[in-house]
Amino acid sequence: MNIAILPGDGIGPEIVSQASRLLDALKADGFKIELEYGSIGGCAVDATGEPYPEVTHQLVSQADAVLLGAVGGPQYDALPRAQRPEKGLLAIRKALNLFANLRPAMLYPELATASSLKPEIVAGLDIMIVRELTGDIYFGEPRGIETRNGQRVGFNTMIYSESEIQRIAHIAFQAALKRNRKLCSVDKMNVLECTQLWRDIIEEVGQEYPDVSLSHMLVDNAAMQLVRDPKQFDVIVTGNMFGDILSDEASMLTGSIGMLPSASLDHNNKGLYEPIHGSAPDIAGKNLANPLATMLSVAMMMRYTFNQEEVAKRIEDAVKKVLAQGLRTRDIASEGTPILGTCEMGDAVLAVL
Ligand code: IPM
Ligand code: MG
Repeated sequence: MNIAILPGDGIGPEIVSQASRLLDALKADGFKIELEYGSIGGCAVDATGEPYPEVTHQLVSQADAVLLGAVGGPQYDALPRAQRPEKGLLAIRKALNLFANLRPAMLYPELATASSLKPEIVAGLDIMIVRELTGDIYFGEPRGIETRNGQRVGFNTMIYSESEIQRIAHIAFQAALKRNRKLCSVDKMNVLECTQLWRDIIEEVGQEYPDVSLSHMLVDNAAMQLVRDPKQFDVIVTGNMFGDILSDEASMLTGSIGMLPSASLDHNNKGLYEPIHGSAPDIAGKNLANPLATMLSVAMMMRYTFNQEEVAKRIEDAVKKVLAQGLRTRDIASEGTPILGTCEMGDAVLAVL
């Protein structure tokens, strides 16, 4: 297992170092694991002037999987667009063709009170959002800000080709087959042609999956249904921008964005794994961040890239046990429970593992 590690900015280095302890433990257990480190985001801009330098591209191109912490920080906000840390993330997704973004949102029973929704609405919640990650308005051309008729206009292009929709559709239907066989595709076909095509293609691909029950929902309704009755969903498939928004919304149902991992995969299950939370510059370097989402990202890596379901389960079970023991970092603590630091939480998971 050749794994590239890109700690990134803010809390990235601290949480990634706990996750890489997991990899060290697996190595000690006999797995052949090679770790190599590189830079992305703001720290890469500081070092090289670019958020996704060529050396990093070489490194990740040769790796089987990439573990990433987070990118971004207020000190980079004033940089030109091409140098923003976020650009590094978009560039690596595009360069490695990581078109399939899997974002599970599940509620650990021990954390039910951390959700802002009533416990009965979210208890047992287990949703998988499949977000298309390399197309849509994020990458569409033309784009820009220019002057037309004496005033500035800003514009972007929402665009999907058939083949882009087909490939993400297959990923989503297959994910549904492994779960509760329900797939909801989210679009805005009442207004946007691009998403009319999206709906048509999803329907077509659906013919090949008679065992999956397929439904469609407009994105505004989906945003509402996610907070009204989130348990109606099993797998959701949607485009890049709607997926960005809905996955943040779904994460908050679980009360703790600090708990959720993600995978971004290409055709061959090469993947980039990262927590879905950001770089949290306000708490960086203070041993306060929750490392569990990053540790759970390693579990996803074992499952999707390396086909090690049993190892993935072991990591996930270790996290569940630690929560059941009442151990909490600050973001998921409730009143009266003692609070662990980033390293101490890492210790706890490793001890169970
Ligand atoms: C995400 C983030 C990114 C996105 C940003 C940082 C570019 O919000 O991974 O959801 O919009 O895709
Ligand atoms: Mg986002």
